[in-house]
Amino acid sequence: MRIGILGLGRIGAFHAETLSELDAVDSLVVADPSADAARAAADLFGAEVAASPQALLAAGVDGVVVAAATDAHPELIVAAVEAGVPVFCEKPVARTMTEGVDVLKAVAGHDVPVQIGFNRRFDAAYAAARAAVRAGELGKLHTVRSTTLDPAPPPPAYVAASGGIFRDCSVHDFDIIRWVTGREVTEVYAVGGNRGAAYIREAGDADTTGAVLTLDDGTIAVVSNSRHNGRGHDVRMELHGFDDSVAVGLEDRLPLRSVEPGATFPAGTPHDFFMDRFAAAYRAELGAFTEVVAGTRTSPCTIEDALEAGWIAEACTLSLREHRPVTVAEVRRG
Ligand SMILES: NC(=O)c1ccc[n+]([C@@H]2O[C@H](COP(=O)([O-])OP(=O)(O)OC[C@H]3O[C@@H](n4cnc5c(N)ncnc54)[C@H](O)[C@@H]3O)[C@@H](O)[C@H]2O)c1
Repeated sequence: MRIGILGLGRIGAFHAETLSELDAVDSLVVADPSADAARAAADLFGAEVAASPQALLAAGVDGVVVAAATDAHPELIVAAVEAGVPVFCEKPVARTMTEGVDVLKAVAGHDVPVQIGFNRRFDAAYAAARAAVRAGELGKLHTVRSTTLDPAPPPPAYVAASGGIFRDCSVHDFDIIRWVTGREVTEVYAVGGNRGAAYIREAGDADTTGAVLTLDDGTIAVVSNSRHNGRGHDVRMELHGFDDSVAVGLEDRLPLRSVEPGATFPAGTPHDFFMDRFAAAYRAELGAFTEVVAGTRTSPCTIEDALEAGWIAEACTLSLREHRPVTVAEVRRG
């Protein structure tokens, strides 16, 4: 099949490499307002260059991967759907929830699949945790802990346009908690701190946050995020039930140093980058998209899923600002 890629920045170039290695993909067409970015991807991965997103959609593509800057997601998703081309779009659907709901309304009624890029759903350990929960192996769940700690903050311009740590980073935790547990979040209480990069505080954002989520079956989920985790990129989940407990990310490259006398675990080099931590998941995610394009599976992460994680991020943002518990129903619109 022939796949188009819109946006060849950090993640777009990575996706171009992954797509070029998938058996299902025969050829690539790329477009980016930065001619240099498009040309570099074309040279590296043997892609054709299209002059614009419109030209790319008219170039006979079977599916399109949107990895453009977040601002451009709504118009590119809608243009592809209106052209009848299945879309994979990186998270988030849009910069604001209002725009995200507008995208949902604009694509309703078109029978064209859209997959949003929450890559943790394709990580083997998260999938095994989900299977264990669904099979009842843990018994009734009581506690979930979800952690995403980055080694260093993104640059000032990225932080300023990101919408804040809950919408940009914790949203991955919110999505994976819903996906693994199969439950919805009803209420949140969030706290945040600023003891790191001054430009994060100046952007009105927190560099470290904690959020307590109550799920609709009474399970408590604790979400921990930071932009300043010197030991590495720490992404984990623990699920505790009445009968058993499981952990995702409890492996040799976990960025934690045990101070137990004689302990030798974890013994590996700590993960230091999300592309390295999730390389296999990104590959599986795009492999799934080729199946969506081929019509052999439905979208494994819909716009509705992405918006639900977005509402949890909205609730946490309000909770932190007003220093109070917030229900998801209070912030949900549209
Ligand atoms: N799922 C994940 O793990 C993950 C990781 C990183 C980034 N992302 C998401 O991917 C998106 C891109 O992030 P990035 O870090 O690669 O950003 P980036 O700034 O490195 O790259 C964005 C690229 O999009 C291009 N672009 C802008 N408008 C465009 C348009 N209309 N058509 C085509 N290209 C356009 C820019 O020229 C740039 O090359 C963001 O939405 C981000 O949230 C997701």
